[in-house]
Amino acid sequence: MKNTIIAPSVLAADFANLQRDAELLNNSAADWFHIDIMDGVFVPNISFGMPVLEAIQRHAKKPLDVHLMIVQPERYLETFKKLGAEIITVHYEACPHLHRTLQQIKSLGCKAGVALNPHTPVNVLEDILHDIDLVLIMSVNPGFGGQKFIEHTYEKVRKVRKMANDRGLNTLIEIDGGVTTNNAKALVEAGADALVAGSFVFNSANPTQTIQDLKTICEV
Ligand code: DX5
Ligand code: ZN
Repeated sequence: MKNTIIAPSVLAADFANLQRDAELLNNSAADWFHIDIMDGVFVPNISFGMPVLEAIQRHAKKPLDVHLMIVQPERYLETFKKLGAEIITVHYEACPHLHRTLQQIKSLGCKAGVALNPHTPVNVLEDILHDIDLVLIMSVNPGFGGQKFIEHTYEKVRKVRKMANDRGLNTLIEIDGGVTTNNAKALVEAGADALVAGSFVFNSANPTQTIQDLKTICEV
């Protein structure tokens, strides 16, 4: 049985109760903490920065999966490593020197991820896939939680899975945006390994149970 990674997005947590929500994730079936960093330039929203991440790190007992929706991410890679990032994902659209940026992430001892916006074709990764640990496919436009899942995502997941299989690579595929128990299983069947879920988890009556439901429904 395949173990799907469930990565609840802290963006949808209650920032006035971050310790409580971090402990909720620690004691749940969640595998990673998904951390959305937005700069108001690459995306039309600002989320939170280093002091908040530092506070999360103090309580998180699971890997921090840091998704950088920022321009020039290479300026902050070391800082995010120091703040506990185990996975650092940069956007393809924000990195003119993607190969170098990925090497920088790996030299810090982190897993290197590349995120693709909904309009970015997956074949732009053909000549760099062997240097990528994780491909994050955006299933909404980055910048906000709570948006509607874009159906074309399935097609992109299948294409990346095929690209990786053809090359004999174990690239992780992560899906981010609008994930619920309605689409989770189909995403895993298309080839996804990790699912981010923000509002579906934290806006539910029982987030711990919702995380378990996502985990269970993905057992294929
Ligand atoms: C969107 C972020 C997502 C977001 C997901 O820009 O990258 O991680 O928190 O939120 P939901 O699950 O509510 O779509
Ligand atoms: Zn994200």
